[in-house]
Amino acid sequence: MKEKILAHRGVSLTAPENTMSAFAAAVEQGLAGIELDVQMSKDGHLIVIHDERVDRTTNGKGLVKDMTLEEIKNLDAGSWFAEKYSGVKIPVLEEVLELIGQREFIINIELKSGIIQYPGLEERVLKAVKKCGLLDRTILSSFNHYSLLKIKEISEDARIGVLYYAGLVDPWEYGRNLKAYSLHPFFPSVTEQMVKECLEQGLQVIPFTVKDKETAKKLIDFGVEYVIMDWGRVN
Ligand code: G3P
Ligand code: MG
Repeated sequence: MKEKILAHRGVSLTAPENTMSAFAAAVEQGLAGIELDVQMSKDGHLIVIHDERVDRTTNGKGLVKDMTLEEIKNLDAGSWFAEKYSGVKIPVLEEVLELIGQREFIINIELKSGIIQYPGLEERVLKAVKKCGLLDRTILSSFNHYSLLKIKEISEDARIGVLYYAGLVDPWEYGRNLKAYSLHPFFPSVTEQMVKECLEQGLQVIPFTVKDKETAKKLIDFGVEYVIMDWGRVN
């Protein structure tokens, strides 16, 4: 199963989410890859964090967009999770790309452009990924599909993944229209027939966020490419 799992925010059940500890654990455990979230700092750095605010996952307060990289790097992103992670920092995207290096490893970068519009986010993410030569192992996803359009406008060869919650009718039509590589549906809406139709139309399916192995196995049997899963307990 491990070769089909993208660890959601890294191995986020046993390490603080979206930190180098969580990403390194995914590499060590031989998973297929990771999913991570990117927001942007006041001074234009690509900050790997799920929320628009730092409050939930650090000892600080405020919006990522109002803070400089230096301010963000001064935060403790580990103590809230467990004392042994105290002092762990929020990474920038480039640090994660460097960790992956030349490994056979998939990185799914979710652009968090759904609530705050970060000017230049798409360009900056693409630039960072290309600089490391990782474009062919990267899937760029977002709930903001205008971000995905922008990515394709800038770089036709980038692989985009369409994130959505709704039980869409004929989602493969929508995905093809966007020239997507993959659909990333909320997992309960995924059926075997839907996966079959997608694959026939040349679209991969990568559901989120699965919590248990039984559901993951069912989806893998349907033919999904990867499962975005909360990983790290005893699996
Ligand atoms: O990319 C899948 C999943 O991460 C989307 O939801 O809120 O966990 O980023 P969220
Ligand atoms: Mg995410």
